[in-house]
Amino acid sequence: MRSHYCGQLDTSLIDQDVELCGWVNRRRDHGGVIFIDLRDREGLAQVVFDPEQAEAFGIADSVRNEYVIRINGRVRHRPEGTVNPDLATGAVEVLGRKIEVLNQAKTPPFQLDEENVQDDIRLRYRYIDLRRPAMQRNLRLRAHVCRIMREFLNGEGFIEIETPMLTKATPEGARDYLVPSRTHLGHFFALPQSPQLFKQLLMMAGMDRYYQIVRCFRDEDLRADRQPEFTQLDIETSFMHETDITGVMENMIRRLFQEAIAVDLPAPFPRMTYAEAVTRFGTDRPDLRNPLELVEISDLVKTVEFKVFSGPANRADGRVAALRLPEGGKLARSAIDDYTAYVTNFGAKGLAYIKVNDLSAGRAGLQSPILKFLPDDVITAILQRTKAATNDVIFFGADVSKIVNDALGALRSKLAQDLNLYTSKWRPLWIVDFPMFEYNAAEQRWASLHHPFTAPQIDDPVTLAANPGQCLSRAYDMVLNGTELGGGSVRIHNKEMQSAVFNLLGMGPDEIREKFGFLIDALQYGCPPHGGIAFGLDRIVMLMSGASSIRDVIAFPKTQTAGCPLTSAPSPASPEQLRELGIQLTRPAQPEAAD
Ligand code: AMO
Ligand code: AMP
Repeated sequence: MRSHYCGQLDTSLIDQDVELCGWVNRRRDHGGVIFIDLRDREGLAQVVFDPEQAEAFGIADSVRNEYVIRINGRVRHRPEGTVNPDLATGAVEVLGRKIEVLNQAKTPPFQLDEENVQDDIRLRYRYIDLRRPAMQRNLRLRAHVCRIMREFLNGEGFIEIETPMLTKATPEGARDYLVPSRTHLGHFFALPQSPQLFKQLLMMAGMDRYYQIVRCFRDEDLRADRQPEFTQLDIETSFMHETDITGVMENMIRRLFQEAIAVDLPAPFPRMTYAEAVTRFGTDRPDLRNPLELVEISDLVKTVEFKVFSGPANRADGRVAALRLPEGGKLARSAIDDYTAYVTNFGAKGLAYIKVNDLSAGRAGLQSPILKFLPDDVITAILQRTKAATNDVIFFGADVSKIVNDALGALRSKLAQDLNLYTSKWRPLWIVDFPMFEYNAAEQRWASLHHPFTAPQIDDPVTLAANPGQCLSRAYDMVLNGTELGGGSVRIHNKEMQSAVFNLLGMGPDEIREKFGFLIDALQYGCPPHGGIAFGLDRIVMLMSGASSIRDVIAFPKTQTAGCPLTSAPSPASPEQLRELGIQLTRPAQPEAAD
């Protein structure tokens, strides 16, 4: 139906006849001449209709925004002074001869160039929202990223293999989405939280190198970088050491950033232990663009009279840490109050601070609500260790380590955002030496930090069971600019160790057999050493595109409450469907609030 895309027009086509199809982006009436900005996937073209072509002019006069039209006309230079250097096609226009309305459009619920449209409205009319150039760019970037990943992995001998969607629970730490079975009444499939066990089985099947761009399903609290269904680039390899695996993966990510957005990432990516990351940044996914760091001061305040500090400083699970903000002295009192309120979201009970008005003036040069509780030598030691200078402010957190890390880690990020402290653009790193387990005090049991198939750094199940809290795992996470892009590990490949880990997690023999019998069996029929990783495709594209949420790089994402305003999913099942599935509702389906 067309000879060119709108966005392809340029001066090489002067005096040529073209046919274009697309949407009316805008129609302007300029004193007897009608201008239509015609939009398609590739861009905008300006089409001009003058009254000499009476029929075409009449139709052009009648079209409205988002009408779908086809035009035919001749390309010409734009008159002097009307060239638009901001537009790819801005040097030319088409003098329209014919115009055909292919379809009319109701007035759209929002204009494409309107900012701050409510998310629910955007999602309900996603097909209009996706017409925006920024959204078109994001989805095309996503396709490009997938193409580069496939090319790289195919070149490295990886085989693309699909794994089931209707399957059994895979424990990745979220709730499962369940699908009732009609042919096995009372039984349920789980949608995969990841293809973890299938990719391990593929290694046992001798496939050696596997990958898949695969949808995963997790019923968990949603955030800007979390969706209930999302896409992983999932990878598994056999007979590779972890440094070989991380090496190949780094090469892939470097190639990806270079080819997709012309960014050169460092080689190699730095590696940092989990313990160091948490101590220095309060998190295992530190944003290294941010120069602020937490400084340990527990040892300095063990004997001070200020119980807020000396209490946690003397507890094994406590921590007192400082966060120095250079030039923070200019923060108003109200800003400090706001930051104090902010850290309470993370469980902190307060935010002590010292303002350094004049470092050379001793106590008199400092301003702080806690100064009176601290002796001179402690103050001096804190100033030295934090490398304080005149005009800085030093914040303090004192509590159980987790609260201090969460609160000061979040404050560190917030300060960098609010004050734009970033010193670089792209800072990838690997986090390694994760603990195998963390203790869930509320439920009084151990939980895997990654998943229960991750190999420990020691080979002996008895030593592992004797001291689970001390044991590190062979897991690695790739972190970029404060976002966890991917995580993986070398896996357990023998039955004794796998059973020991299940035991530690509180599973008895019957539960192990019922949930993972197939894995335990498979481990006994010739399982190679293997390991892999999965990347969050949505997160990679989000960072590359500069989007603030993965929603903006997913064609049809879900809302905050995991619903779809476009299709009104999820929706009630019919009584017949429920009967067939042997399901009776104990509570009637809630009528949906108009999302
Ligand atoms: P993990 O659970 O760390 O590992 O997931 C891998 C990567 O997937 C992305 N991701 C998500 N993205 C969007 N929304 C979500 N809800 C979401 N959850 C996770 C993250 C994360 O780094 N089977 C293991 C991998 C392995 O061991 O090989 C796994 O799934 O970017
Ligand atoms: P208070 O003794 O409660 O008046 O607190 C004195 C100062 O210490 C205030 O600035 C509080 O914000 C701060 N503060 C209180 N508890 C903590 C804590 N757990 N960690 C850091 N600062 C705190």
